[in-house]
Amino acid sequence: MKVLLLGKNGQVGWELQRSLAPLGELVSLDRHSTLADGGCGDLNDLGGLRETVARLRPDVIVNAAAHTAVDKAESEPAVARALNAAAPGVLAEAAHAVGALLVHYSTDYVFDGSGTAPWSEDAITGPLSVYGQTKLEGERLIAAAGSRHLIFRTSWVYAARGGNFAKTMLRLAQERDRLTVIDDQFGAPTGAELLADVTAHAIRQTLRNDADCGTYHLAAAGETTWNGYARFVLETARALKPDLATKAQEVAPVPTSAFPTAARRPLNSRLDTKRLRHTFGLTMPDWQRGVQRMLAEIL
Ligand SMILES: NC(=O)c1ccc[n+]([C@@H]2O[C@H](COP(=O)([O-])OP(=O)(O)OC[C@H]3O[C@@H](n4cnc5c(N)ncnc54)[C@H](OP(=O)(O)O)[C@@H]3O)[C@@H](O)[C@H]2O)c1
Repeated sequence: MKVLLLGKNGQVGWELQRSLAPLGELVSLDRHSTLADGGCGDLNDLGGLRETVARLRPDVIVNAAAHTAVDKAESEPAVARALNAAAPGVLAEAAHAVGALLVHYSTDYVFDGSGTAPWSEDAITGPLSVYGQTKLEGERLIAAAGSRHLIFRTSWVYAARGGNFAKTMLRLAQERDRLTVIDDQFGAPTGAELLADVTAHAIRQTLRNDADCGTYHLAAAGETTWNGYARFVLETARALKPDLATKAQEVAPVPTSAFPTAARRPLNSRLDTKRLRHTFGLTMPDWQRGVQRMLAEIL
């Protein structure tokens, strides 16, 4: 089996390099990979993507690349749309032409964040931001292309590698006596490791059973706010490393309005993962498990 991975150096892409390796021959590309290197990995080069898929004829294409700068997307919607909508659409057409399964990631930001109930896959979408809107357009173009596909909508992704929310909180807690963190957005921090491992399981099953294609919500179990997440990070870090020099004695709750941003974010980012768990026979671990593990790795 041949697997083509795009966006190999992102949070999720990096973990996919590990989790997809046992499935077969893995060709991993990033935005700098060219046809001369064995494949074009630049989502802005639609012709290059088409030619790459036609030449490699992979059994599975996994697209972990995207325009993920949520606030920046507000001022460059055409750039975000090219990466989040046009490119996945072309990948889906190219996948269809060679009979490949396309795996793609989307977001809780396709929803408007109203209410308190976890969103099901069939819930009505209503993105509040350019990022959310372009990710939704990407989902629709994939569905319209007619390829077999898996779309995983996830939320609040973190990884040990690179910058992340936990590292920012740990740094601020060393610099300040008091942190203020938003407490009216609800969701589940989800590790790139979990996303990558579930992706590999789902690919194996879907290749045996086409009926399992479709859109799934994929997030760690439980829920919290950014404030609860920050408090958990600090408590866990202090327990793991008692000599950690943190000054912050308080993580004060503030509303979203306290931190104005270019993009509006949903207040309710809870995702209902029942369909994923039932279809693939998987259990989603509590969000704290993965965050604790990530902290143990980085501290
Ligand atoms: N992060 C989250 O909280 C979150 C939440 C919900 C859903 N998601 C979705 O999950 C997926 C993976 O996200 P992530 O957290 O792993 O994002 P990430 O760490 O920002 O990685 C995105 C990758 O896309 C690459 N990229 C950007 N422009 C490109 C281009 N023109 N051609 C090729 N590659 C390009 C980036 O490369 P460079 O590093 O070179 O820029 C980066 O490696 C995305 O579909 C995202 O929308 C993420």
